[in-house]
Order: sequence, then structure tokens, then C-alpha cells
Amino acid sequence: MSIRDVVNYGNPILRKICSQVSDFTALPSILNDMFDSMYESEGIGLAANQIGIDLNLFIIDITHTDEADDPHVFINSSIISTNGDKEIFQEGCLSLPGIALDVRRPKMVTLKYQTIDKEWHEDDFDGLLARAIQHEMDHLNGVFIIDRVGEIERLKYQNVLKELEKHSLSKNKSSLDAKGFVL
Ligand code: CO
Repeated sequence: MSIRDVVNYGNPILRKICSQVSDFTALPSILNDMFDSMYESEGIGLAANQIGIDLNLFIIDITHTDEADDPHVFINSSIISTNGDKEIFQEGCLSLPGIALDVRRPKMVTLKYQTIDKEWHEDDFDGLLARAIQHEMDHLNGVFIIDRVGEIERLKYQNVLKELEKHSLSKNKSSLDAKGFVL
């Protein structure tokens, strides 16, 4: 088990579509590192490419929020559909330290995914879990929250983004208000 550095905006691995997991034998050790790294950074979600691993794999743990739930592992996931009204909610991102944005996303998501035992599932999610799933699925497709807001919001953070690109492997803490979560 070890804590790995979270890679920041500017690192090319965060702009690619991640590869499907075919070798499940390596997953237990990768997942240990992912959970350690996520807890160290006080995040509620983490995609594998955020610690430099090119795999369609993400974890979510909202145990310490109002919507307490067991930790989740999602492998080879794809969004089947999104449903419900769009909601605005503040999100931070472990790979975008210093940035917090109001992101508009559908309330509900239907996800197809595998669990660690290779079983396929298709489930509906809502609330914070649906929000976190959509954030992590964006990571696995090379998309950041900064791509989910308007030009004016994005321009506000132009300088922060330039700095991040310069130091895209350095480790930082996010700055969020009390309501937000970082993923
Ligand atoms: Co993120």
C-alpha cells in the first residue's frame, strides 16, 4: 500500500480516454493505492488516471457525507443514460487544486460497470453518488470540470490553469468552501 501523488491538470494522462481493464489480478494493489491516495487528499472520488494509471477504473467513498454509503469500486464503466433535471452543485477536483466551480449535471445516471469479481452490473444512481460518478467518468474520458462551465467562469481561472500546467506533477490541496466536495 502506498500513497501516490495525484497528477494535476496539464498532465497528458488526464486528457486521454482510459483503456479498458483486462487484467483483474493487478487491481487489488492498484485499488489499495487509490483509496490511500484519495483519503490522503480528502477526496470523495478518484479516477485511476489521477494517479497516473491508464485504466477505466474509479472509486467513490461518500461515507463521511450526509449521504453515507459503502465505498464503491467501478470498473470498465460506461454511462448508459442520464435522467432528471439538471442541478447546479459546487465541485472541486483533486487534479485542479485551487479551483471550485458550480457544475450543472443531470440528477440521475444509469451506469454499466464491472465489480472486482468481474460481474457486470447496470444500476441507477442519484444524489451525491450520481454527481461523483459523472465527475469520475469525465476524468476517464479526458474531461475536467473546467470544460463543463461557461467561457467567463473558465477565464477567471486562466492564470491558475497556466500555473498548474507548469507544475502538473506537484501535489496541492484544493480550496473549497464547506459545502463543496473534491473528487
Ligand atoms: Co476530479
